[in-house]
Amino acid sequence: MLDTQIVKILDPDQGAADLKRAGDILRAGGLVVFPTETVYGLGGDATNADAASKIYAAKGRPSDNPLIIHIEKPSDAEQYCITNEFYYRLAEQFMPGPLTIILPKKDSIPSTVTGGLNSVAVRCPAQPVARALIAAAGIPVAAPSANLSGKPSPTTAEHVIRDMIGRVDMIIDGGACEIGLESTIISLNGGTATLLRPGAITYDALCCVCDKVEVASAVAHQLSENERPLSPGMKYKHYAPTAPFVLLDGSHENVLHFLQDRQTKEKCAILCFEEEIAHLVPQNLLSVGPRDDLELQAHRLFDALRRTDDMQVDVIYGHLPPMDGIGLALYNRMIRAAAHTIQKV
Ligand code: TXA
Ligand code: MG
Repeated sequence: MLDTQIVKILDPDQGAADLKRAGDILRAGGLVVFPTETVYGLGGDATNADAASKIYAAKGRPSDNPLIIHIEKPSDAEQYCITNEFYYRLAEQFMPGPLTIILPKKDSIPSTVTGGLNSVAVRCPAQPVARALIAAAGIPVAAPSANLSGKPSPTTAEHVIRDMIGRVDMIIDGGACEIGLESTIISLNGGTATLLRPGAITYDALCCVCDKVEVASAVAHQLSENERPLSPGMKYKHYAPTAPFVLLDGSHENVLHFLQDRQTKEKCAILCFEEEIAHLVPQNLLSVGPRDDLELQAHRLFDALRRTDDMQVDVIYGHLPPMDGIGLALYNRMIRAAAHTIQKV
């Protein structure tokens, strides 16, 4: 058990002394959890194989699932991977921001960090505390989401404390993460641009910069038994709440009638829309926001899934989201959380 320090930093200038200490911990091979605009990250020195091993151990993560390298500015990627024209075009549009780009790896990054792959994922976060931490450390920061493996990514310091207390040297509480879903991942490793994980930078936004963007089949479909995933993370169980999670696919009226009926028959939690609250029994309801506000639904999803764990229910119901805009990112996370269980009503 480590003696985890918890510090609150909302403004990097006011938190300068704590950020300096956090940077010292990272350079010395320790682990620091920090806020980003997407989800909280579990950071360690990306050039240090021992630090990477500690990250895998703290999360309970299989060591073949590679980590994302967080950098201060897009050109820093030169030191760690082989960049190209598309990298800089995407960087100009979307960095700093919630985009991760996969490129061929250079030797400066140990293969422990990339789960043995010869490619590496780089991301330049926009969140001011994250940026100040990377600057204070003066090294690239390897960071997966700061949840225990299999659990929803943490979007508040409370989530992090639940999962990581005693497992890391420091937790920086920077308040709630703005977006709430992990970064968009695009691979430029090879001839084509391939979307591996959808996020707040949407498919359409990427297509404005790259002429052709392929979408990995695992983004919206279940991998078949013998299919090799393009990203190791695609094959693991994800975001799983304790109770089974079922996604409902049908008209507004049908879904509402179905939910009303189930509430009389079983102990269920419902990730519902604001508009439905007045029509349901006010027990174990988690409003994810108005029906049309996909951004707010994205912001609330992981917190709602975590809350169901305290409700002792037999089943959780949610709405199958549309696949356009940020809806694709919601869809991707929700079908995984539901282990691809979709019920037509
Ligand atoms: O928003 C985010 O990206 C957050 C914050 C902390 O930056 N990080 C994050 O990291 O979500 P993680 O480790 O939870 O998810 C990274 C995903 C994994 O599914 C991993 O398999 C994939 O990225 N990945 C990393 N490097 C890769 C590579 N070289 N090739 C293919 N997939 C890679
Ligand atoms: Mg993760």
